[in-house]
Order: sequence, then C-alpha cells, then structure tokens
Amino acid sequence: MQELKHGILIATEGIDGSGKTSLTKNLTHLLNKNHFPTIQTQQPGGTTLGKELRHILQTQTIPLCSKAEYLLFAADRAQHMHEVVNPALEEKKIVISDRMGDSSIIYQGYGRGLEIPVIYSINMWAMNNRQPNLVLYIKIDLQTAYDRLAKRGKEATAFEAQKELMENVIIAYEKMYANAPHVITIDGQQDETMLAQNAFEKVYAWMQQKNYIV
Ligand code: TYD
Repeated sequence: MQELKHGILIATEGIDGSGKTSLTKNLTHLLNKNHFPTIQTQQPGGTTLGKELRHILQTQTIPLCSKAEYLLFAADRAQHMHEVVNPALEEKKIVISDRMGDSSIIYQGYGRGLEIPVIYSINMWAMNNRQPNLVLYIKIDLQTAYDRLAKRGKEATAFEAQKELMENVIIAYEKMYANAPHVITIDGQQDETMLAQNAFEKVYAWMQQKNYIV
C-alpha cells in the first residue's frame, strides 16, 4: 500500500450529465489499483440520512423554498462529514466525493439566487472548516450533457428539468473555477475510460508535486 502523509479530500464537480458519477467510481478504482487507499462517496446521499434527503431533494414532491432546499443539502453535508469523510481522512485515506459544498454555491447561490456568502459560511460550518484539497471540474457543454441525460432514460431530477437553471449553473462553474489554484479541469467530452485515465494521471502528478506521498 502507498502511504500518504495525511488524508486527502477530492471533490468532483460539474453539471448534471457531465460524467462526474462515473469518474468518481472509475478514479477510485484506478487509485486503489495503484495501491492508494481510496473511498468513493457522494453529496447528497453518502449516509443513511443523506439517502433520504437525496430522495426528497431530487423528486421535490414536497415543494421546497430555496432556503429549505439549501439547508437540506447542508444537513446532508454535516452528517456526511461526521459519519464518512472525517473518519476516512483520519485514517489517511483519499476520499473522492461526487459533489461537495461548491455545488450549493453554484446551484443554490448562482442558480437559485441565495446569498453566496451565507452559503459559504454555512458550508464551512457544516464541514468543520474543511475544504476539498482538490476539485476535479468536468467541463462539458450543456447540449452534450442533455443528450447524455436523455440517453440514460431516467426521469429528470428537479434540477435537470430546469434548463434556465442549468444554463446559469454552467456559466457559474466557469466563473468560479477560472484561475482557481485548487481546481483541475478535465475535458468531459472524452469517453469514460479516457476521462478516468486522464484524471488519474493529473491527480497522481498533483500528489507528487504537493509531496503528499510518503
Ligand atoms: P447528482 O449527484 O449530480 O445527481 P445524479 O447522480 O442524478 O447525476 O446531484 C443531484 C442534484 O442535486 C444535481 O442536480 C445537483 C443538485 N445539487 C444542488 O443543487 N446543490 C448541492 O449542494 C448538491 C450537492 C447537489
């Protein structure tokens, strides 16, 4: 097993249909195969509470105001840190989470119009001031993402169904991650295997450069 100096938190971010979920799974597999102790998780839904919240949030059969919607994501986030992320980081593992706090800044802040500084500080509080060491941003255009979502044949979530929201979301990601030193952008137009291999190489080089490997 490759030993790490400390736990490493990596979030994957991008619009719906960008391939985040497959990347999270495939990258976890590649890191484990290369002897890095790695776990895969997600927000919302990485805990038992989170799975229930994810269902409420994605179906929205109970109408939610934007603040309540955000606070449910924040509740998921707090439980996820407590139950899954912090213990794994203490064991010096790599934790790869399909979405984290930035998704709320993007979807509830830029998307729904909630105050970004408020979201930022509640996120920090919910996550015990822990931020991802690295964000992998999967860049893809909206049409390709929608074509993929249509092919999946699953019913659209409350977020995907709102095209205007999705348009704001993609602009917001570009703005937020332009020149951000902790973000690596990955081309989401490539196929699933290439994308994971490409991400693995970038993450490996980043860990070496940061001197995180013992
Ligand atoms: P996601 O896990 O990407 O859904 P799927 O696995 O079905 O692709 O995320 C679920 C939805 O929740 C997605 O549309 C984005 C939204 N979301 C927010 O609006 N705010 C948040 O803080 C998070 C984490 C997700």
